Amino acid sequence: MGRLTLTKLRKMKRQGEKIAMLTAYDASFAALLEAAGVEVLLVGDSLGMVLQGQESTLPVTMDDMVYHCRNVARGSQRAFMLADMPFMSYATPIQAADNAARLMREGGVQMVKFEGGRLLAETVEYLTARGIPVCAHLGLLPQSVHRMGGYRVQGRGETSAQQIHDDAMILQEAGADMLILECVPARLGNEITDVLKIPVISCGAGPYCDGQVLVLYDMLGISRGKPPSFSHNFLEGTNNIPDAIQAYVSAVKKKEFPPLELSY
Ligand code: KIV
Ligand code: NA
Repeated sequence: MGRLTLTKLRKMKRQGEKIAMLTAYDASFAALLEAAGVEVLLVGDSLGMVLQGQESTLPVTMDDMVYHCRNVARGSQRAFMLADMPFMSYATPIQAADNAARLMREGGVQMVKFEGGRLLAETVEYLTARGIPVCAHLGLLPQSVHRMGGYRVQGRGETSAQQIHDDAMILQEAGADMLILECVPARLGNEITDVLKIPVISCGAGPYCDGQVLVLYDMLGISRGKPPSFSHNFLEGTNNIPDAIQAYVSAVKKKEFPPLELSY
């Protein structure tokens, strides 16, 4: 049957069907997530925090990513698979292409994601010209936590909102086929989703984007420490993990998650 394609995800955007995405790091959850109707499995470098117990995503290596991608690929058959390029694995276009190729060949993913704005346009162009689909990531950039001075909402001021907006346009123009917006006001998430042709996925960017993504362990309420305020514990009110994931998918599809009150 093969995996879901970008063509299908683009069509979902055009038809207003919300895309349900969650992070996955292993075969068992990958199987469960796709059975519940999650369209996109993100092998996120959040695994550094939730699986490895690191303080940030910075220590995650390419070998770590390949290992988890392979596990997720073995556990799933139909979902679209997207993987993060870890910190400093895409410092130059050539390095990015080599590492992205590993995630696709050895990890079995269909798309790679990296964090940053217009300065990465050249890298996006380099990869997409060589057949590697790219998901851009704007707003809060966890790999830049030390430059940003902590994990905080981005795009609140007029100038910073405009910059994120322009970056999104530039990266789409460079060839990006998807965008994840993390921790930005719902109003900005809405504007960018309207103006872009590619699917825009919200991670704390409000309810108006084309889809939603959460860190799996946050939405099950089992992360160490306090989950971000835009997240929600879907295990509460259900009895088991499969039902919790089903509840998430259904809330995303029905546009019940996230509520505007949980947004910035
Ligand atoms: O690593 C991750 O889980 C992510 C999502 C939070 C978007 O990048
Ligand atoms: Na990530």
